[in-house]
Amino acid sequence: MTAEPGPSSVRLRRLRRTPRLREWVAETRLSARQLVLPIFVRPGRGPPIAVESMPGVDRLSVDDAAVLASRAVDDGIGAVLLFGLPRRKDPAGRDALAPDGAVPRAIRAIKDARPEAVVATDVCLCAYTSHGHCGILREGQVDNDATLPRLARMAAVHARAGADVVAPSAMMDHQVAALRSTLDREGFERTAILAYAAKFASAFYGPFREAAESAPSEGDRRGYQLDRRNGREALREIAEDLGEGADIAMVKPALPYLDVLARARARFDAPLAAYQVSGEYAMIKAAAARGWIDEPTAVAESLAAIHRAGADLIVTYFAREWAAGEREETQ
Ligand code: PBG
Repeated sequence: MTAEPGPSSVRLRRLRRTPRLREWVAETRLSARQLVLPIFVRPGRGPPIAVESMPGVDRLSVDDAAVLASRAVDDGIGAVLLFGLPRRKDPAGRDALAPDGAVPRAIRAIKDARPEAVVATDVCLCAYTSHGHCGILREGQVDNDATLPRLARMAAVHARAGADVVAPSAMMDHQVAALRSTLDREGFERTAILAYAAKFASAFYGPFREAAESAPSEGDRRGYQLDRRNGREALREIAEDLGEGADIAMVKPALPYLDVLARARARFDAPLAAYQVSGEYAMIKAAAARGWIDEPTAVAESLAAIHRAGADLIVTYFAREWAAGEREETQ
């Protein structure tokens, strides 16, 4: 016989009675330090340009991007993730490799203002190519191996400008290895790689494509991003990227793929990140604007779920909002 109290004496509600009790027994605690704020940087001066499908998100000049990054640091947010817009688009996405592009300039501006800021950059060609695909096209198909050196060069340009972390998101096979070897060869062995390892072809990227002006003009990304039906394949992608030298592996989008995140957590010891993407943000914003859901609670609940499922780090457009709520609660 067991000494355990029988089922009739178990009352799980006892520890839910007051806020203090609930806080005391909370199994997970998310902190602003674990959040990453995405920032869209555009060439040229002038005021912020709103992204219609992402209320509260703007395309910013280099100077404004540095101001926002500095606020994020003040808010206690762990890192920023920069996305760039080009001066001009062409089939090869040449502006992505320009040392005086919006992203390298923003990295320098942020590091000048706040040397302690952790700066990550997205490494992908889709915002820079005239066709909007993530790599170089040959006969209508994205040419994996011809794309690799260009992604590696882009990452090296960001590293030279001072990026702490580069985040390849093109879903090209061997992109992590390509970045790692170029970075190491050029003296950037200290630059970390956050791999968008398990990136699914998703309808939830829709609003981002407005922000980054990166919707493919023809076709879609299913030829290189993961199929929504495949969890095991996502784990193979993560294993592959970690094997190629990724320091952090990311699952994206977050909420529809929490199972992948949980399985990855059980299998890998590397830091895991999840990206609460533009469509996840837009859904909450749109419903809240109509008064259909309570925004702060929906944000807190979705981020807690992503954290509970196994993400150490969360990329979210709600980072500042969540951090403000955290400050309020702890006062
Ligand atoms: C670039 C990239 C995308 C996102 C991040 N990096 C879009 C895409 O693959 O179309 C999506 C981010 C978001 O939706 O918030 N390849």
